Amino acid sequence: MPIDQQEFRRVLGHFAAGVTIITAVGDDGTPYGLTATAFTSVSLDPPLVLVCVVKRSESHPHFHTSRVFAVNFLATDHEHLSRRFAVSGGDKFSELGIRVGVTGAPVLSEALGHLECKTVEIVEAGDHTIFLGQVEAADAREGEPLVYFRGGYREIK
Ligand SMILES: Cc1cc2nc3c(=O)[nH]c(=O)nc-3n(C[C@H](O)[C@H](O)[C@H](O)COP(=O)(O)O)c2cc1C
Repeated sequence: MPIDQQEFRRVLGHFAAGVTIITAVGDDGTPYGLTATAFTSVSLDPPLVLVCVVKRSESHPHFHTSRVFAVNFLATDHEHLSRRFAVSGGDKFSELGIRVGVTGAPVLSEALGHLECKTVEIVEAGDHTIFLGQVEAADAREGEPLVYFRGGYREIK
């Protein structure tokens, strides 16, 4: 029998996670994105990562159709961005420095680091979809990461 959902959430909250904004692009070039902690590296050779996107999100269909995505790592002073991209819908990208990356997915200029991915596999997993991506380009800068732990934003001290 599966674990009670509330208990599952409570225990998961005790796992400290880096915060990302994952992005995709609509057929008409509109950028989409959401705050996500469900990101992990998967393989070095070939370079693979995965992200999990909740099916009820507005961005979800665009991750399916674009077949590309970018993972943007947030820094300690990006809590406002995490909050903005955790609200569903609307123009989250206004007044934000973005550029179209090599895959076509939007990259946030101020991110601590980013990975640009081509989707190589899609796995349906309960109320989320897992997008496995091959990394086509990546970069990172100096800085400290934004961390999410037990329902709050934390800094590494
Ligand atoms: C700290 C944090 C982590 C989150 N992690 C994920 C995640 O890994 N995957 C996901 O699909 N949603 C995650 N969410 C929820 C989405 O950001 C949220 O559903 C968002 O509103 C979706 O935006 P959209 O509907 O405009 O696509 C997270 C939210 C927060 C605050």
